[in-house]
Amino acid sequence: MKVRVPASTSNLGPGFDCIGLALRLYLTVEVSTEGPPSPGCDLVVQGLREAFRRVGRRPPPVSVRREEAIPEARGLGSSAAARIAGLMAGNLLLGEPFGREELLNMAAELEGHPDNAAPALFGGLVVAVRTESGVVFSRLDPPSDLSLALAVPDLRSDTSAARRLLPEQVPFVDAVYNVGRASLLVAALMKGDLSLLREATKDRLHQPYRESSVPGFGKVCEAALEAGACGVVLSGAGPSMVALCFGGGREVAEAMVRAWARFGVRAEPMVLKPDLEGARYVRLQG
Ligand code: HSE
Repeated sequence: MKVRVPASTSNLGPGFDCIGLALRLYLTVEVSTEGPPSPGCDLVVQGLREAFRRVGRRPPPVSVRREEAIPEARGLGSSAAARIAGLMAGNLLLGEPFGREELLNMAAELEGHPDNAAPALFGGLVVAVRTESGVVFSRLDPPSDLSLALAVPDLRSDTSAARRLLPEQVPFVDAVYNVGRASLLVAALMKGDLSLLREATKDRLHQPYRESSVPGFGKVCEAALEAGACGVVLSGAGPSMVALCFGGGREVAEAMVRAWARFGVRAEPMVLKPDLEGARYVRLQG
């Protein structure tokens, strides 16, 4: 079988660990129980094994062939996508005992947070929080004219290392700062009110602690805003940067890439629309 799962950009500034948006950039894998177990697709296999473990069955050896890939360790949700591809493949092999919400709970547990897994499974913009009884979430369609201008650098960032940069506690004023902006961000995206996004994408919970590990962070932000972006943030734990744009976005992405070049960082510009569908099975040809 073949499974296609979108990339995602999480946090979107103030929505640390709870807001994510699916992107039209995909991991597509073909999973088969014939052929040798494949190297290099460990997270897909991990997801598949988890589905089998939950029903107390031994997973079959599988071979995984990757057809389309999401750049890894760039803050684009590649690990969530791979785990979900494996969970979806496992679920199908088992006769679909699990619904999407159960798959989300499993993916969020494997990931440690739901903000990439939720949009990867459901598409669109998802606000998701973990509770003792599972993930509670709400999905909405982002404005149809929203585009994401990305600069994906030639740098890699491991999420667990990027999380170690964060403090255990933050000042109360910073928590208040983020509650306001995260709320404003969701309201702005629900109404398509771009005038709010500049303020609504500001963050004090994670970016200030992470930006020193991203050379040129401030200048890339400035370049995006000068080129017309409505707001610009680290994508997930970084190092990719994503700018929210209405209409085009190409000039913004290129301005970000040029700004990075001045710091000796090579980056690829991308302009992506949100994915609205989420993870799906793809019919095999022939
Ligand atoms: N919310 C997570 C973080 C996303 O910022 O660490 C990383 O996958």
